[in-house]
Amino acid sequence: MKSVTGFVYSNSPLRYLQYFKDGAWQPSVLSDNNQLTLSEAATALHYGQQCFEGLKAYRAADGTINLFRPDQNAQRMQASCARLLMPSLTVDAFIAACVQVVHANESLVPAYGTGASLYIRALMLGIGDTLAVKAADEYVFCIFVCPVGSYFEDGITAVSFCTTNFDRAAPVGTGAAKAGGNYAASLLPNKQALGQGFKDCIYLDPQTHTKIEEVGAANFFGITHHNEFVTPKSASILPSITKYSLLYLAEHVLGLAVAERDCFIDNLDEFKEAGACGTAAVITPIKSILHEDKLHQFKHSNEHPIGELTQKLYTLLTGIQFGDINPPQGWIVKVEQVPQAL
Ligand code: PLP
Ligand code: COI
Repeated sequence: MKSVTGFVYSNSPLRYLQYFKDGAWQPSVLSDNNQLTLSEAATALHYGQQCFEGLKAYRAADGTINLFRPDQNAQRMQASCARLLMPSLTVDAFIAACVQVVHANESLVPAYGTGASLYIRALMLGIGDTLAVKAADEYVFCIFVCPVGSYFEDGITAVSFCTTNFDRAAPVGTGAAKAGGNYAASLLPNKQALGQGFKDCIYLDPQTHTKIEEVGAANFFGITHHNEFVTPKSASILPSITKYSLLYLAEHVLGLAVAERDCFIDNLDEFKEAGACGTAAVITPIKSILHEDKLHQFKHSNEHPIGELTQKLYTLLTGIQFGDINPPQGWIVKVEQVPQAL
């Protein structure tokens, strides 16, 4: 297998397709065709009635394959679907579908020790013929997989971000749902940040533009000088499964104080370390943040350019995902132990 780097699409042999018609889910198929055929009147195309999920399959040292907290992705997809008036799968059906696709493309799961993994992308689209702004009558649920490496930078490398004046979501909009429209809104600010030499932009809260919300397509965390793990609390950020896992590990394994609370962009001095976290981003340490005309540099010592606690959290999280460290109850689902169909 050639080495896997970056976060790029590749056409894997088989994907899961299931249609919702006449008020019910139809039997699923594994298809070798990576093209979807949709009506020109699909609500996903006109009105953005769609949402998606992302999780990963990890090769363990003994060759088995781990899924990390797929029940959480299943529940978040149910919440996104409910917000966008779409039907959803049960948690068990979602996990069985992920397992089926991973099994079907098993040889693509990168080898243990490479740091790469198999990204699992699930999506739900409103399809059929609908002209008015209303929920579709028909839907397609699809899962495809791609071997991936790092999203921002290889391994655990600190990178820099800048804030943007644009919002990705409204205060009581769809920010907490994994809706494609939020990402369409992020394309221009992302391009601007890249153009200025940053990895991505940081979104501030849409109401006051004073508090950190998201780091591109990842959540934010900071570690204070008193070793408190802090992450923003807001109704318009995506509830990151990685973030909630880190909150748990920081408190219960590292014994840190933890808080979900406001993180003011003008008070970055309260943090000695900061990072972006997410399935794709894993843990990406933040080197600096440009806000207006002020560049805030996080001060790590030369011996620990990454930040000691950020490094510990990274080792813990990835150790659990790749099966080297015992997980909290229920966090790892072994692909080999789940029936592929309900
Ligand atoms: N925030 C946004 C906007 C995202 O797209 C993602 C990716 O899923 C995250 C945060 C991180 O969420 P998770 O840890 O569940 O992948
Ligand atoms: C993920 O981390 O799974 C995401 O969905 C981020 C992606 C939009 C790049």
